[in-house]
Amino acid sequence: MAREPIYLTTPLFYVNAEPHLGHTYVTLVADVLARFWRARGRTAFVLTGTDEHGDKIAQAAAAAGVSPREHADRVSGIFRTTWDAAGLRYDHFIRTTDAYHVAFVQKVLADIHTKGDVYFGSYRGLYCFGCERFYQERELVDGLCPDHRVAPTELAEENYFFRMSAYQERLVAILEANPGLIVPEGYRREVLALLREPVGDLCISRPKSRLSWGIELPFDDRYVTYVWFDALLNYVSALVHLGRIELWPAAEHLIGKDILKAHAVFWPTMLMAAGLPLYRRLCVHGHWQMQQGKMSKSIGNVVRPLDMKARYGMDAFRYYLLREMAFGQDAEFSEEALVARSNGDLANGLGNLASRVLAMQQRYFGGVVQPLAPEAADHAMRAAFAAAARELDVHIADLAFHRGLEAVWRALDHANKYVVETAPFTLAKDPGRLPRVGAILHELCEALRTAAQLLAPFLPETGERLATLLGLPAARLGELDLPWGAAFAPGHRTLPPEPLFPRVEVPAE
Ligand code: MSP
Repeated sequence: MAREPIYLTTPLFYVNAEPHLGHTYVTLVADVLARFWRARGRTAFVLTGTDEHGDKIAQAAAAAGVSPREHADRVSGIFRTTWDAAGLRYDHFIRTTDAYHVAFVQKVLADIHTKGDVYFGSYRGLYCFGCERFYQERELVDGLCPDHRVAPTELAEENYFFRMSAYQERLVAILEANPGLIVPEGYRREVLALLREPVGDLCISRPKSRLSWGIELPFDDRYVTYVWFDALLNYVSALVHLGRIELWPAAEHLIGKDILKAHAVFWPTMLMAAGLPLYRRLCVHGHWQMQQGKMSKSIGNVVRPLDMKARYGMDAFRYYLLREMAFGQDAEFSEEALVARSNGDLANGLGNLASRVLAMQQRYFGGVVQPLAPEAADHAMRAAFAAAARELDVHIADLAFHRGLEAVWRALDHANKYVVETAPFTLAKDPGRLPRVGAILHELCEALRTAAQLLAPFLPETGERLATLLGLPAARLGELDLPWGAAFAPGHRTLPPEPLFPRVEVPAE
């Protein structure tokens, strides 16, 4: 049965900062979901890229003493090479300065202007430069922007506005009728609460006299559009450019909670005005907190993905991020916790199991896998892996990565107990029991093969290394339907063990 495709997007990252933990987390989630669903027969497409227009970028470029274009080229390039070096895969990388994107934004603007959904007016309001948007008084916390904790600037100027208010009622009706449209559910409720008040219209332009680093309005060359009206359209412009617009109804946007309003209110109303269907799902994650408070350059606690890869290995970093954060909620990042997970779950839980099994397979049978002859204990372990596979599917459909991994580790715990309880190392002292030892080790090789397959989307290097040690080509990792017992034909040899995860220590301060 051909399963429906999935089109995954990350936010477009501002080029005023280099890739850090927050950017890495959402890109990792896209990578994991694409690998997971592809292994289950779905077409998956991942879009990521950079958001390059606006005041913030122009200011960052000025501070670096280069033109906005040079600055954007450099930082956008760093994002790309970082994801490549970290093994985080994407199918297309879009830049909001790409000519096709600029042309698409201008076309949409011209269309909705002709339709009457864009008008010219004067505006006085409270503007946060960090968020690149106006705030209503009631949205402020103690008079400050809730995200940037700075007092917004009062601005008055003539600008173009998108008639967002015209679509408010329709948006509410859609959100009420579609419980799964924004997940986790708490965020849908948050948006519905926000929509109980009038949303107003959206200011979408800047006079060139104040900002020239944007996309020129097709109907007034004194103005540019920038940030939200520009960047959100990337999700569609990339597909049009690539000739893959059929993927649009399969869109699942992955975003952090700080850009919820833009994606849950601005974006759907823009889509309605442009006559496009809505995305399928908006998936909202929480923030990584640091013990010292918010991650920031000035505090010097910025977590860089390639530093983590060099220190702990990419799979350990991936495992920690996915296992520690409940998607939707905030989580605290600490290297101590990462090391504990790596030494505990990875090195002890999975790594030891693999080493013991492969070592016994080598010692007793020269690596040759022996025939199965299942007994009750064996059936129980098979059932534990079958349950893990089923639970994993349910949890990943719900974006509960931590629960999915927990389910696999319950099966691995079962396998570790099975080794203790069946005690092949003791049985092996009696030559008459060697056939049973061989059968037990075969069961355990199957357990490791299944674990490698289930874990491959989350820990791709580990999945491949485990397959290699088991003597299986990496392509077999994709054969999720392989029945228990079918992976190892008579005479099949496994390789001698190698440590999958080195023991690591917390770096000294
Ligand atoms: N350019 C806009 C998005 C436009 S989408 C059409 C933007 N860029 S950003 O670079 O500032 O942020 C990108 C994403 O990184 C956001 O989803 C944000 O939530 C996420 N993170 C930034 N810091 C974060 C953490 N500390 N933790 C988790 N994610 C956070 O916003």
